Amino acid sequence: MTSRERFLNACQCAPLKRPPVWVMRQAGRYLPEYRELKAKHGFLKMVKTPELALEVTLQPLKRFQLDAAILFSDILVIPEALGQGYRFRDEGGIAMDYRLDSRSQIEALGSASLVPEKLSYVSEALKLLKKEINGKHALLGFGGSPWTLATYMVEGGSSDEFNRIKTLFYSDRSTFELLLERLSDALITYFKMQIEAGADALQIFDSWGGIIAGNDYEEASLKWIRKIIDALPKDFPIILYAKGTNPQVVAQAKNGVRVLSVDWTADLKKTHTLANEARGKLPPIAVQGNLDPVLLNTTPEIVTHATKRLLESMQGTPGHIFNLGHGIMPEAKLENMQALVETVVNFT
Ligand code: CP3
Repeated sequence: MTSRERFLNACQCAPLKRPPVWVMRQAGRYLPEYRELKAKHGFLKMVKTPELALEVTLQPLKRFQLDAAILFSDILVIPEALGQGYRFRDEGGIAMDYRLDSRSQIEALGSASLVPEKLSYVSEALKLLKKEINGKHALLGFGGSPWTLATYMVEGGSSDEFNRIKTLFYSDRSTFELLLERLSDALITYFKMQIEAGADALQIFDSWGGIIAGNDYEEASLKWIRKIIDALPKDFPIILYAKGTNPQVVAQAKNGVRVLSVDWTADLKKTHTLANEARGKLPPIAVQGNLDPVLLNTTPEIVTHATKRLLESMQGTPGHIFNLGHGIMPEAKLENMQALVETVVNFT
């Protein structure tokens, strides 16, 4: 069985001896070869140059026996394509070039029709990857959720309190909806483009889904995600990653996503049971996750132990993709990543 087949089988909840494994942000700052390439070119140039994006995407696959390659890119390429650029703050975090302050600024954003041309470097990179990977590994595309993108656009960058986006949601719903509508349309075009370019699955990152009140999650985030999923081909595997939304599992499972990717606070087995009970007539749903990324900053012994414990808790439960509960940290040690992947690959 190829890694690609293993991955797609797991999305379909087919029984497997061991789950497929990949790690969010697997091409990132913990890799010396990534840091070296970034020192030479800078992050945005790597994202926008298909040959460099190809090289970075493949870096972790050369070191570790991973089953999936995730395109090296960023969720913020969508606001940039619509006219709101971004950069990295020296002290860490993101700064958008300006912040959305008024309805007229939202009306002035570019429309979905700009996406194919402005983000042609994403299709180019995916096509190069498809050729290079040649069906051996699963090729993952991705994008942010409308809500998570809106937080960056309205806050003007990374935020601690999310005061501005929540105030907009609570006090001017029609302007909020105008923005989320625009983003959903752009994302539908973007995801269709990634599917056409050869992605085997797509992951939607609702990284900030957990900052809104549980009772408002549907209106702030989930309904826009559903709008996107409903516009994509019915059987195409979509993974929904959301952080801090464990109480929303039942609501999240009641739509066309094939995989729920959960953070480390969730019990993965219980999440799997709960999500599948909620499915009704929909096909079974797989879960992805969910080790705490901080474990990879410790020792190989600790990582091996935690990895085995998670594997054992999911043994005999079809529909598990092994991953962390969020992105790997820059402090992660290579020998710990090695220990994680080896433990999964050798699990019987
Ligand atoms: O998973 C992968 O390896 C694919 C590549 C990927 C990146 N960003 C590369 C990246 C993916 C899937 C993302 C998604 C992303 N980007 C999200 C959602 C996922 C999540 O982690 O919650 C968000 C919120 C962003 C926006 C963003 N980009 C942030 C908050 C940061 C970190 C800023 C900081 O100073 O810590 C980035 C930068 C970024 N995106 C890096 C990488 C490898 C690090 C850039 C660097 O090398 O300095």
